[in-house]
Amino acid sequence: MREKIVAGNWKMNTTIGEGKKLIEDILSGMDRVPAGVTLITATPFTHLCPAAHLIGDRRNPALAAQNCANRESGAFTGEVSASMLASVSCRYVILGHSERREYYGETNEILLEKIKLALAHSLRPIFCVGEVLQERETNMHFQVVSSQLREVLCQLDPEDFKKVIVAYEPVWAIGTGKTATSEQAQEMHAFIRAFLAGTFGELAQSTPILYGGSCKPSNAAELFSRPDVDGGLIGGASLKADDFLAIAGSFA
Ligand code: PGA
Repeated sequence: MREKIVAGNWKMNTTIGEGKKLIEDILSGMDRVPAGVTLITATPFTHLCPAAHLIGDRRNPALAAQNCANRESGAFTGEVSASMLASVSCRYVILGHSERREYYGETNEILLEKIKLALAHSLRPIFCVGEVLQERETNMHFQVVSSQLREVLCQLDPEDFKKVIVAYEPVWAIGTGKTATSEQAQEMHAFIRAFLAGTFGELAQSTPILYGGSCKPSNAAELFSRPDVDGGLIGGASLKADDFLAIAGSFA
């Protein structure tokens, strides 16, 4: 049995007051989350400490950051390190989101450094892969995703790889309202698992692979019904507790 995970990526949204309210609303709706489903909220950095206080010693929901530095510590103005995140009860970190790759120039090389630091500080990476529209239209999507996997995840030791969560996010589906069909998601998730099995063998059977890109209450059940779709990475719909909880409640 693979882990089932629904992770919310708040991106650069919410003031601290709005963020606290959102956490409180999620906490009061946790009875809607089926047993065995882990809920993760990736708040902005500034909200992690207050969110950790509200969550207290509950294991679910868990906190994630949306990024971390590719350096351990020191003179890197404006950066937040993996050890800092671990010190505020953060247990996961999203790495390689397409917005970080596109707007902040994060390469696979930088992402490998970040992943290694995250793992060294006991943070579980949620590593994002995915193709842009033109790559899908020219049938390059499998090639693009395989290089993202080969250059980052396949470089890890098996013990580290075991802790990784993958998120397949077709860039053309992010924030566009255009979701991949569940067939497209399943096809890519099965491809990702088989590709990872080429390096890590049986271990890839346990890797949670989440789908991201305009996932919402109306399409989550269909996506999650597919054998290799182990949950979702949710952007826009994670900013409404009701929608986020409804998505988490969509597992059969
Ligand atoms: P979306 O974003 O759900 O708003 O499409 C997903 C993501 O970027 O993680």
